[in-house]
Amino acid sequence: MKNSKDIVATAQKVLSSIGAPVTVMGSINADLTVETERLPRPGETVIGGPVVTLPGGKSANQAVTCSLLGAKTKLIGALGNDSHGDLLLDSLNKAGVDTAGIRRCEEPSGSTMITVDAAGENTIVYSAGANALVNADFVREESQIITSAKILGLCLEAPLDAVEEAARIARDAGVQVVLNFSPITQVPESLLKLVDVLIVNQHELAVLGGREIDVTNLDELRKAVADLGFEQVVLTLGGSGSLVLDSGEVTRIPIFEVDTVDTTGAGDSFMGSLLSALAAGCSLSEGACLAAAVSSLATVRMGAQSSYWSAREVRDFLSQQTR
Ligand code: RIB
Repeated sequence: MKNSKDIVATAQKVLSSIGAPVTVMGSINADLTVETERLPRPGETVIGGPVVTLPGGKSANQAVTCSLLGAKTKLIGALGNDSHGDLLLDSLNKAGVDTAGIRRCEEPSGSTMITVDAAGENTIVYSAGANALVNADFVREESQIITSAKILGLCLEAPLDAVEEAARIARDAGVQVVLNFSPITQVPESLLKLVDVLIVNQHELAVLGGREIDVTNLDELRKAVADLGFEQVVLTLGGSGSLVLDSGEVTRIPIFEVDTVDTTGAGDSFMGSLLSALAAGCSLSEGACLAAAVSSLATVRMGAQSSYWSAREVRDFLSQQTR
């Protein structure tokens, strides 16, 4: 494990280097969010607060993070011609994301139902809506947006044919491909072969590898990752931080201590930070140092995009850690 002084210094260095172009392809959702003391068990009704509609969607969240950190960021995706679509586009524009690759259509915008408990944990149910219209043809028509970037961010909220086509276009153009294996979906080998960097949590890794993996046993973890054919993997462990596996070397990066209110979108801000850092030529473990700070900070406010901090705020937070 790196010590906390090193992590802060590395995060500061990475943050100051961000600026290279990033493209994200995938989902944009209106998050219908309600806070409750505890999450309901199956069949149970619990009492919640008011329902709020917040801008979300894994890909949109990643793009917003990249742009707030200073990367030139473009997003490819689809929105409905509805009020959710207006809200979501507005949030992306305010964050400075280039939205020329976003199409409006007759389907309703993608949405989720999110429940957040008093400890900041959540449950999320996703309804694809317009996101389901992003197919391989759509991606091919926007291929220039992919080939003009240094790195492409993908997740599994978009249709698989679109994800695979985007990865293929990127790979052919020498653009690095990062896949967040979420939400868990059966994916073809042909897609996994196009991925340079995989971001997974423990549960997702077990599904991908077809068995439970003891992540405290680093030899077992290394073998599991090698068996999957990956050289570069980031395993996110929630409150326990992350493990970066890069060409057989394992680095543990802890989270930053903050007062957590809501973890929604924290993982997406982790990935957005990594995308921005890798595009700028930083190593995976260097990127994970910044990602640890950015994603920890994303838990102290409600929602996904509404919880993200600007580059200046992240810089101020990091400089306070060294005092
Ligand atoms: O990762 C959090 C995101 O997942 C939310 O914003 C929600 O839209 C779902 O896509």
